[in-house]
Amino acid sequence: MSSDVAVGASAVEAAVGGHVPLLAGSTVILTGASGGIGRTTARVLGAAGARVALTDLDAGALAPVERELREAGTDVLAVAIDASDQAAFAALHERVAAELGPVDGLVNCAGLFEIAAFETIDATAWSRIVAANLGTAAAGCLAVLPAMVARGSGSIVNVASTAGEYGSISPAAHYAAAKAGVIGLTKSLAREAGPAGVRVNALSPGPIETAALRATTPEQKALAGSRTLFARLGQPQEIAAGCVYLLSPLSTFVTGHVLRVNGGALL
Ligand SMILES: NC(=O)c1ccc[n+]([C@@H]2O[C@H](COP(=O)([O-])OP(=O)(O)OC[C@H]3O[C@@H](n4cnc5c(N)ncnc54)[C@H](O)[C@@H]3O)[C@@H](O)[C@H]2O)c1
Repeated sequence: MSSDVAVGASAVEAAVGGHVPLLAGSTVILTGASGGIGRTTARVLGAAGARVALTDLDAGALAPVERELREAGTDVLAVAIDASDQAAFAALHERVAAELGPVDGLVNCAGLFEIAAFETIDATAWSRIVAANLGTAAAGCLAVLPAMVARGSGSIVNVASTAGEYGSISPAAHYAAAKAGVIGLTKSLAREAGPAGVRVNALSPGPIETAALRATTPEQKALAGSRTLFARLGQPQEIAAGCVYLLSPLSTFVTGHVLRVNGGALL
């Protein structure tokens, strides 16, 4: 995950040759790990050779994900925290570094989507959505960046949304505003951490087939899929693949970027 060009070049040759798993030997923290996209991403990170620290709100929901990765031979640690709690995230980072090794990558995948007409969003609902989507990403970055900067390498992926780029199709202004904030956070931290060799990117999914999307009405779901150029919803593994790319030595010259994995829903 270094930004060193020579390291990147040799790793590209090895990776495209298929001999070395893309994230071999690295330690990655993943938030939202028991969610629809998170659980698949956890598996794919493990398959790519990473040691994976899983976190989400509920220990019971994390347990089967941890078991699945362990059975697949991945070094895994699962710790339930509220990822918007900066002190809790800092403690998680310390524990992961001690038990799995220095943290090379962070995927901020935690999020919360709720449909609400703007005039119905009170201060509590606003804070809940902003904390779950933007507060979690900020706390994660805050926890890992100092050590990454000190080591001169590291890669952070903040999961945004097309809603943060062109507004939410279903009424959810708080969600769209928080995801737009994730993109602003990403670009600002890319500027701050880039000179130290640390990369910070956003991945902006289009409509992905998970429980979060199933919470919308069938009409809204069909409309969401129809907006892609392939007339279908995306799959969680298509997001996971983008995360692996942004964490891996295949993207050593990529920072401050918003990788759109949206089937052409927004060009
Ligand atoms: N599914 C989609 O169509 C879609 C589209 C665009 C963006 N996204 C984004 O992708 C990410 C994953 O979405 P998903 O579809 O898997 O949703 P999901 O609801 O299945 O998973 C989100 C996970 O985040 C966790 N989480 C929420 N708040 C948290 C907190 N404060 N601390 C720790 N964990 C917390 C939840 O418990 C949940 O397990 C989210 O950031 C979401 O906004 C999803």
